[in-house]
Amino acid sequence: MVPRIVLLDRNCELTKLWRQVLAQIPLASETKPLVSEGTLQDFKFDEIATPAAIVSPGNSLGFLGGGFDLALREFFGGLPFERFFRQTLQEVYRPVMVATPVPLQLWAKGGFEYIIHVPTVVEPSAKVCFNEEGSRPSHRPVFDAMWSALNSIPTSVKTLVVPGLCTGYAGVPIDKSCQAMWFAISLFYAKRYISSRLLNVLILRFLGYSYEAFYDLDGLEEECHEVGLNLAQICEFDINESLLTDMIPKIDISKTS
Ligand code: ADP
Ligand code: NA
Ligand code: NA
Repeated sequence: MVPRIVLLDRNCELTKLWRQVLAQIPLASETKPLVSEGTLQDFKFDEIATPAAIVSPGNSLGFLGGGFDLALREFFGGLPFERFFRQTLQEVYRPVMVATPVPLQLWAKGGFEYIIHVPTVVEPSAKVCFNEEGSRPSHRPVFDAMWSALNSIPTSVKTLVVPGLCTGYAGVPIDKSCQAMWFAISLFYAKRYISSRLLNVLILRFLGYSYEAFYDLDGLEEECHEVGLNLAQICEFDINESLLTDMIPKIDISKTS
């Protein structure tokens, strides 16, 4: 069973955008993520399937002093909880965009048994979410953080709660973050139904890569067609110009029609 995703954020511009994108994405009702607008403090924990996990878009040292992490610290038990959390991460440097599930053990609360720690900054004064030219924020770190978190969810977990990634301290514009999060979530659901070759071509093209040796398109056209995609559109995908829906396999739609 794949877990249900709940997107939670107090930034109503972001939740509005999430809803707009969600409306365009073909997912069956049982896999459709829920969008919850508001603070972690006001979140209705009794309405989600448990055990649940919650993503910490943190920093490389595991401190919980700001942004969504501060809300996590306040919710789970203040500074003593932060000490437990950092000790569980062995108080050691964690590279950005690499997810680590932290079992909460005696600190579990509200159905949450894990925090999935994904540093989106090394430390909050330095932004990492920029492309090679160093000026424009890139969508790749957001995709990597979401993909890494999704692929590290412990098997018992039924719900994953996640705030906007890189939309606070990390400084990625909400539209870029929204697209990258949705793309990662859509592929996470679709990956059981498509070949790993198509999955990898979609990810590489979404991120703007097309190194030929990694990128075997032979015979992919037919598979694309089966899931409502067009290989030429995939190959030409550009985050600033193309439609995200051109990149998302129409799995649930084809099954229900
Ligand atoms: P990042 O370093 O990845 O940018 P932040 O923690 O700074 O992470 O922000 C991530 C998101 O968390 C932002 O979109 C922000 O609006 C949201 N956020 C921060 N505090 C809360 C809270 N108490 N409840 C809900 N959302 C929050
Ligand atoms: Na962060
Ligand atoms: Na944070």
